[in-house]
Amino acid sequence: MPDPLVLHLVVNGEPARALVPPSRTLLELLRDDLALTGTKHGCDVGDCGACTVLVNGRPRLSCITLAADCANEAVQTIEGVAQQGELSVIQAAFDHHVAAQCGYCTPGFVMTLTHLFAADPEADEAELRRALGSNICRCTGYVKILAAARDAQARLRASP
Ligand code: FES
Ligand code: FES
Repeated sequence: MPDPLVLHLVVNGEPARALVPPSRTLLELLRDDLALTGTKHGCDVGDCGACTVLVNGRPRLSCITLAADCANEAVQTIEGVAQQGELSVIQAAFDHHVAAQCGYCTPGFVMTLTHLFAADPEADEAELRRALGSNICRCTGYVKILAAARDAQARLRASP
């Protein structure tokens, strides 16, 4: 069995360290080693988007990302989105529009939109739909998710 690796990375702005086997996925590292269970374990094969986190600001499917590939990188999870106990604009819009039912997909959607609106605040409807297409929701039918996303984008554009 290969020797475990000592991994150092920054998670939600805080230094983190873990001793992991080389085959450990980023999802396993977050959920099992760092107890950050907001990132969800869905399909495990890169299809559903439930495990989406940001690595250096870009979306990554943590179920198919090796933890070792994130050594010394900055990882943001859903636990790092709210600030000082305040929901982010995107989280608040999901709440306002009741865009979550079981909620299992919600962290992944929030992370996808967090990246999209940071990278392209002027994303048009087609880009919005394309981005959301990387996440699967089996409950809501997407209408409320789209409404929440449009609302959040409008609020972010209007904020100073
Ligand atoms: S759990 Fe990672 S894409 Fe589905
Ligand atoms: S709210 Fe249940 S999967 Fe999306």
